[in-house]
Amino acid sequence: MDAPTLTEPTKVRVELGTRSYDILIGADLIARSGTLIAPFAKQSRVFILSDDTVWGLHGETLLTGLSSGGLTGLEKVLPAGESTKNWALLGETLDWLLEHGAGRDDVLVAFGGGVIGDLTGLAASLMKRGMQFVQVPTTLLAQVDSSVGGKTAVNSKFGKNLVGAFYQPRLVLADTNVLATLPARERQAGYAEIIKYGLINDPEFIDWLSDHGNEVLKLDSDSISAAVAVSCRAKAGIVAQDEREGGVRALLNLGHTFGHALEAANGYRANLLHGEAVGTGMALALRYSARLGLMTSKDAEHGVSLIQASGLETELQRLPGGPYEAGPLVEAMRQDKKARGGKVPLILAKGLGQSFIYPDADLSDVQDFLQEELQKS
Ligand code: NAD
Ligand code: GLY
Repeated sequence: MDAPTLTEPTKVRVELGTRSYDILIGADLIARSGTLIAPFAKQSRVFILSDDTVWGLHGETLLTGLSSGGLTGLEKVLPAGESTKNWALLGETLDWLLEHGAGRDDVLVAFGGGVIGDLTGLAASLMKRGMQFVQVPTTLLAQVDSSVGGKTAVNSKFGKNLVGAFYQPRLVLADTNVLATLPARERQAGYAEIIKYGLINDPEFIDWLSDHGNEVLKLDSDSISAAVAVSCRAKAGIVAQDEREGGVRALLNLGHTFGHALEAANGYRANLLHGEAVGTGMALALRYSARLGLMTSKDAEHGVSLIQASGLETELQRLPGGPYEAGPLVEAMRQDKKARGGKVPLILAKGLGQSFIYPDADLSDVQDFLQEELQKS
């Protein structure tokens, strides 16, 4: 029997001078990982960090894929879940790398969702002041967002992502086949970040998602590859302009100021995933934009309906973890790094696909708005 024909992956370049890298998107990239990673590996052994769920489902495929390109993998498997992004496991990972003689030329592979990607990236940045790392994201959220752009972090008892570094990977392999085992709820949560790119500045993508969103969620191979590629291209373009979030990168936070407040008010419990909070957060940002007269309510509701059509909750009063209260939500927004004197920057919209940084949203007005949203029947 002939070997199956492997389709060419889509390539998206993140242009960052000497730190530029490719994101490859397509089917069966994990099976080809050895060949794809080999150009970066000075030794045949690569280090892998993963979580127990991902490793149980896909570890063997990764090891086989590496060996087909002449590489062997040495893995460290951590517990799945947000609580893994902590100091203790970061230290344990660094000790593990040192124990096995890792050096700056070695490659550390992040094999998992955003939790593993963020922890691995930070470990790689610290290891002998920086070893190479490759992202192999296995959740939709990680493929369209967290594996790209170089934000790495662990959580502290003082809050989420407070200890981290900007540190770029050498390569990102977004294998769309690996998403087949992802629970539907995790797919929806990742889809919220896909919609985000349309709402930021791409009305054509909004129209495309209106027609093809269901196919994306069902992982139709052409549609999922297209959606991941458009998303990565959008993020790569923004990161190339503003790697360290001095300006335009803040647009990627559309829906996140409201979303982070919801996650914080809910105590980061698993009944509200990050992407789910962002979905509601984007609906709130659109409605708040309409309230300020920046866009029409009709356009805002059209955007909300796109979010809703994917199965994400857009109504604050029905969101898991509730009932939420406007006061504590605004208190959480006050903790935003950029909040000053009762004002906070928000990403709002002048129309669908026309988001912008609104520098000084008045938190007492935001509180009135949230109160009204919560009182809706
Ligand atoms: P995650 O890594 O916890 O993955 C979600 C769940 O899916 C986990 O239980 C995991 O084991 C499981 N899983 C992963 N891949 C799977 C697969 N293919 N099949 C079955 N199960 C699978 O969460 P996430 O949503 O990927 O990422 C969230 C994290 O990303 C948060 O910590 C957030 O702070 C971070 N984040 C970082 C950035 C960034 O720019 N660095 C951006 C957004 C989010
Ligand atoms: N997830 C937001 C960013 O990467 O800037």
